[in-house]
Amino acid sequence: MTQSQRRILVTSALPYANGPIHLGHLLEYIQTDIWVRFQKLFGENCIYVCADDAHGTAIMLKAEENGVTPEQQIANVKREHEADFSDFLIRFDNYHSTHSEENRHFAELIFKRNKAAGNILEKEITQLFDPEKGMFLADRFVKGTCPKCGAADQYGDNCEVCGATYSAAELVDPYSTISGAKPVMKGVTQLFFNLPKFTDMLRDWLRSGSLQESVANKLNEWLGAGLQPWDISREAPYFGFEIPGYPGKYFYVWLDAPIGYMASFQHYCNQHGLDFDSYWAPDSDAELYHFIGKDIINFHGLFWPAMLQGAGFRKPTALNVHGFVTVNGAKMSKSRGTFIKARTYLDHLNPEYLRYYFAAKLTSKVDDFDLSLDDFVQRVNSDLIGKVVQIASRTANFVNKFGGKLSAELDDAQLVADVQAAAASVAASYEAREFGRAMRDIMALADRGNLYVQEKAPWTLAKQAGSEQQVLAVCTTALNVFRLLVLYLKPVLPQLAEKAEAFLNIPALSWADAQQQLLGHQINAFTPLMQRIEPASIEALLAASREGTAPAAESSAEKKPEKKATKKEDAVNEHISIDDFLKVKLRVAKVVKAAHVEGADKLLQLTLDVGAEGTRNVFAGIKAKYSPEQIEGKLVVLVANLAPRKMKFGLSEGMVLAAGPGGEDVFLLSPDSGAEPGMEVR
Ligand code: 2FM
Ligand code: ZN
Repeated sequence: MTQSQRRILVTSALPYANGPIHLGHLLEYIQTDIWVRFQKLFGENCIYVCADDAHGTAIMLKAEENGVTPEQQIANVKREHEADFSDFLIRFDNYHSTHSEENRHFAELIFKRNKAAGNILEKEITQLFDPEKGMFLADRFVKGTCPKCGAADQYGDNCEVCGATYSAAELVDPYSTISGAKPVMKGVTQLFFNLPKFTDMLRDWLRSGSLQESVANKLNEWLGAGLQPWDISREAPYFGFEIPGYPGKYFYVWLDAPIGYMASFQHYCNQHGLDFDSYWAPDSDAELYHFIGKDIINFHGLFWPAMLQGAGFRKPTALNVHGFVTVNGAKMSKSRGTFIKARTYLDHLNPEYLRYYFAAKLTSKVDDFDLSLDDFVQRVNSDLIGKVVQIASRTANFVNKFGGKLSAELDDAQLVADVQAAAASVAASYEAREFGRAMRDIMALADRGNLYVQEKAPWTLAKQAGSEQQVLAVCTTALNVFRLLVLYLKPVLPQLAEKAEAFLNIPALSWADAQQQLLGHQINAFTPLMQRIEPASIEALLAASREGTAPAAESSAEKKPEKKATKKEDAVNEHISIDDFLKVKLRVAKVVKAAHVEGADKLLQLTLDVGAEGTRNVFAGIKAKYSPEQIEGKLVVLVANLAPRKMKFGLSEGMVLAAGPGGEDVFLLSPDSGAEPGMEVR
C-alpha cells in the first residue's frame, strides 16, 4: 500500500441462506462489484467482503423441509451462492457466513458493550405462540383475515389487498402458517435495544451527508414519528447464537446480520495480517460503504449505526442504496418466466451482457429500473458488439496481415488523445456510481472510433499498392482507441478486458495506463471477443425460468412484501411433487345436514358423514347456488386434513371441493353413487 492510497472497505447485503440468487439480488452485487473493481483498477486499497445471512426461523424451517440440519442447509446454499457469484464475475475478497465464530465473537461483544452502557432493556411482552409447534411466531408466520378489509389469508404484519398495517394479534381468525394451529397469546420477557436513546446521534448522522437525499428523508420521517426500542431476542427453537447470560434466548437474525460484515472482514484480516481495529475504531481514516437495497434502510440507517456507536465502533462512511429491478415492466413473475435465477441465466447467456446492461441503467439514485429484454438484446448487441468489439474486428486483421506489429506513429493522434483525456471524467462517473453516464460517455467515444474507421476504410486502402504504412497507422489508431475503451469498460467487463489484453499482447491494464499509447508493439491474432445475443437464447431462458419451481428464498420470514413473488396467478404454473399431492387427504363425505347460517349470505353449514372418521362441520360458500334441501343426502369430496379454521360462525373442519369461480357459478364435485363415505379419493 502506498501513502496516498485510500483504504476502503465495501460490503453488499448478505443474502439469506435459504434460496438461490436471482436477478433481483444480482443488481446489487453487480453494482458493488463494478465500483470495487473500479477502485482497485484506479489503484486504491479496496476490500470487498460479504457472507451468507445464515440465521433465523426461515432458514431453520427450510432445513426442516429439506430434511437436513440447519448447518447442512447453510453449507449447501453457501456453495451455490459462491458458484453463482463467481460465475457472474463478482470477486469478493472474502465470502463468509454469519454462522461463524468471528460473528459469534462480534455479536457477543457488541451486545455486552451495549449492555454495559445501559443500552439493553428487558421487557415483558405478549406474543403469538404456536401451541402445536411449541414456538413463538414471527408476524410473517401468522396469517388470517385482514381486520380492515376482511381479505382472507393475509400476513400478520400487513395486508397485501388493502395495504393496511397492523399487529399479528389484530388478525381475525389467525392461524400459524407452520402448523395451521390457532396461535395463543403468551407472555415472554424479551431484550430490547434502546434505540430512542440514540435519537440525537441519529439526527446528526442523517444530516451528515452520508446518505442519499431520499434515504435521509425517509429515515427522518421515522425519526420524526419517534423511535421505539428494538426487540433483539428470540425464543428457542431458533437457529442463531444464544445470548450470553440468557439461556434459551437467541439474537434475532437482524441483530447479527450486519455484524456479519465485521466477521467476514475479521476473517480476511486473519488471513492477510491486517489490523481490524484500524478500520473499525471510531477515529479510523478508512472508508466504510454498505451497498444495500431500499427495503433495508431502517436496519442500516438507524439500528446499525446506533449499535456500532453504543459498542464503541465507527459508523459507516455512507450507505449506497439502490432501487429494485423489474423485468419487462413488471415484478418478476414465474408464470411469465421472468423470475430468473442466476444459474438459469448462466445456462443461457454470458454474465457480461447483464453486467453491461445493469451498468448502463444504474445511477447514484434509489430509483427502480426496468430490464426490458428486447432493449437488453438490442443494447448489448449494438453497443458491445456493434460499437466496441467492431473497432478491433474491422482493423486487427490488417495489422496481422502486415506482420502483426503496430506502427510507431498514429494516423490520428488527436482522436487518441481525446479518448485518453476522457479517463478523468469516466473515473469521476464510476466514483460517483453514475455508471449509466460512464457507459454513455464510453459509447460516444466508441462512436467516434467507428466513424474514424469508416472514413479511413482500411479495407479499401489496403488494396492500394504501397499503402502498408498508412493502413498500419490507421489500424494502430483504431486499436489504441479500442484499448482505451476496453480499459474504461474493465470494471464492468473484466472478461472481455482479459481477452482483449491477450489479443493486444499486453499485461493487465490499470487506470494509469490510459496515459500510455500502444505503439511499435507486436500483437496477437484476433479471435472473436464476444458473441451477439441471439433472441433464441432469450426464449430459452424464459422457458427454463417458467419451468423452474419457486425459489426457496421467497419463503423467508424476514423478507418484505416487495420481495415476495408468490402470486396466485403463478400458482397454476408451479409443479408440486406427487409427495406434496399425497399430503392432501381427500375423502368421500355424505351431506347429512345442510343449514343456512345466520348473518352469512354466502355460506351453508354442512354436517358431513366421513364414515369411520365420524362427522365433520364445514362451512361452504355455496349458498348462491344450492339450497340446503338440494344437497342433503348428496356425496361430496372433502379435504379432510385441512387445518381447522375458526370462523365467526364456528369451527370449519375441512373444505368441500367445487369447481367454478364462485357465486352462482359453483359446481360441487360429487362422486358417483356407490362410493361410500370415508373412501379415499385419488
Ligand atoms: O434482506 C436480506 O436479504 C438480508 N439477508 C440482508 C442482510 S444485510 C446485512 F445486514 F447483513
Ligand atoms: Zn386488508
